[in-house]
Amino acid sequence: MEHIFKPIRFENGKLVWLDVSRIPFEEHYVESSDIDRIAQAIKNLEIRGAPAIGVAAALALASVAYNFKGGSVEELVRELEKASEKLSRTRPTAVNLFWALRRVMDKVYSVVDDGCSVDQLRNTVIEEALRIQEEDIEANLRIGKYGSELIKDGDTILTHCNTGSLATAGFGTALGVIRQAWREGKRIRVIATETRPLLQGARLTVWELVRDGIPVKLVTDNMVGYLMMKGAIDKVIVGADRILRSGHVANKIGTYTIAVVADRHNIPFYVAAPVSTIDLESNVENIKIEERDPDEVRRVLGKCLITVPDVDVYNPAFDITPPELVSAIITDKGVIYPPYHVNIPKTLGQKR
Ligand code: MRU
Repeated sequence: MEHIFKPIRFENGKLVWLDVSRIPFEEHYVESSDIDRIAQAIKNLEIRGAPAIGVAAALALASVAYNFKGGSVEELVRELEKASEKLSRTRPTAVNLFWALRRVMDKVYSVVDDGCSVDQLRNTVIEEALRIQEEDIEANLRIGKYGSELIKDGDTILTHCNTGSLATAGFGTALGVIRQAWREGKRIRVIATETRPLLQGARLTVWELVRDGIPVKLVTDNMVGYLMMKGAIDKVIVGADRILRSGHVANKIGTYTIAVVADRHNIPFYVAAPVSTIDLESNVENIKIEERDPDEVRRVLGKCLITVPDVDVYNPAFDITPPELVSAIITDKGVIYPPYHVNIPKTLGQKR
């Protein structure tokens, strides 16, 4: 496979991650096999982005298995269950976290049912976690290829939040589409929204695009309507934290506002995500939208206070865009068009 920048690795039984909360100021790697520390890293957004959270959680279970010192299969299963429970309480909205934990634990139960040894169970967990990581990169490369077909030479593309290598096992989803179009020689330009309050667009998307030499302009979130009205944006591509069978898309706060204005100006609004982000079971009412620390809004990146101390604030981290505002969903299994309630289950090989 071509060289892909991987922000998360599994080395000698430890999870090694680039602390993206410090990008672009510092490229600092952290390593740990301590589940509490890894859970804290996910909560603090040292590791963030739906696919990256899933991959990190799976590799965290691999680290539990690798470092297990006990003697029985039952003990190891209990440790894995405890770790999985802890990791599942870190962030509620991105379904990839629950998907990855369930995928590893399902594998655990199936080999235990077959009467495996501790070593066999240990190897199974590590292999499954590494497979999840590898498959995420492969999925992103496919998303890039399918998505790039929708991009024309000369397009100016707006993206929100960060959906690149820093949000996945590598390459990226929406940013993967942009990256692939650029690799194919399309002379595109990107407009990145800063993505208040934690500035994933300003800090991470800009960092990735500048490293790749892809032309990017940074805007504040409230400039989007004006730019669309001026005809400065041809397409929007964003990622997703959870896509329902109805086609509702939970993604970074502000996505819905962008989708509404794009619709007003007939600008295609695309969502790019691997099928591991599709949740066929939930409905809009039971998606839990994460509410984060009010200080993220009162201060800039935990430092400069920008308001009256203790002012009451709202800080939902995600919103939900309804299917009628989504032009297409670019997945690793192809581009899905409306009607989503028919075509999403169909793409996943399921009946409605
Ligand atoms: O709070 P974050 O930074 O984890 O939010 C990330 C997003 O909303 C991304 O758009 C989404 O996870 C897709 S990442 C490929």
